[in-house]
Amino acid sequence: MASVPKILIIVASTRTARFADYPLAWVLERTAYRTDFAFEVFDLRENLLPLYDLQAPPAMAPRAYSSDQQREIGERLDAADGYFVITNEFNHGYTAALKNLIDHYFVEFVHKPISFLGYGNVGGSRAIEQLRQVAAELDMVSVRPTVHIFGPQMAPIRIDGAARADIFAALEPRLDLLLTDLHWWASALSAARRADSEIESA
Ligand SMILES: Cc1cc2nc3c(=O)[nH]c(=O)nc-3n(C[C@H](O)[C@H](O)[C@H](O)COP(=O)(O)O)c2cc1C
Repeated sequence: MASVPKILIIVASTRTARFADYPLAWVLERTAYRTDFAFEVFDLRENLLPLYDLQAPPAMAPRAYSSDQQREIGERLDAADGYFVITNEFNHGYTAALKNLIDHYFVEFVHKPISFLGYGNVGGSRAIEQLRQVAAELDMVSVRPTVHIFGPQMAPIRIDGAARADIFAALEPRLDLLLTDLHWWASALSAARRADSEIESA
């Protein structure tokens, strides 16, 4: 029997006092009981690569890592069957740090699903829609259901534990919907990738 899908939760914010830690804690709490997924956190703040300066585009030179750090991150991305990105929004886009991470890799992402939780004035929607475009170029599937935390919800989450619990409780059905779809895609695509590698090694 196939193993459960491994999902890397990518925390995009690299700021010290970041909002990201609230949704991260909630997602981890909500997923702790699930035996049908294996989740791992990838904190971009702890895994910042230098600005892109590779010899060849990663799509042309797969896994030609230029440093131990790039290899270590590449192996973590490679090992995942799918991704769940917790993203903030800067100037109606996603952050430079997240783009720099993505641009260092290619085959590690190909034929895998990517899903999103966004926060900001309009729930990080614009960052998420930009990320969907990038995901298409990486030959990924972007999962349709998304989770959004809107501007007016952010202040109460930051300051009031009871309000935080209420806001996150209201988002549970949305997160569950996302996870159902993410599970479907991660399972289907990991089976398809396995079939590909069996044909290649035959
Ligand atoms: C340079 C800059 C641009 C920003 N632009 C947006 C924006 O376009 N949309 C938005 O919703 N929030 C925007 N914000 C607010 C951030 O979303 C907010 O600071 C958020 O808390 C950042 O996430 P973090 O606390 O997890 O790092 C911006 C913040 C900065 C510093």
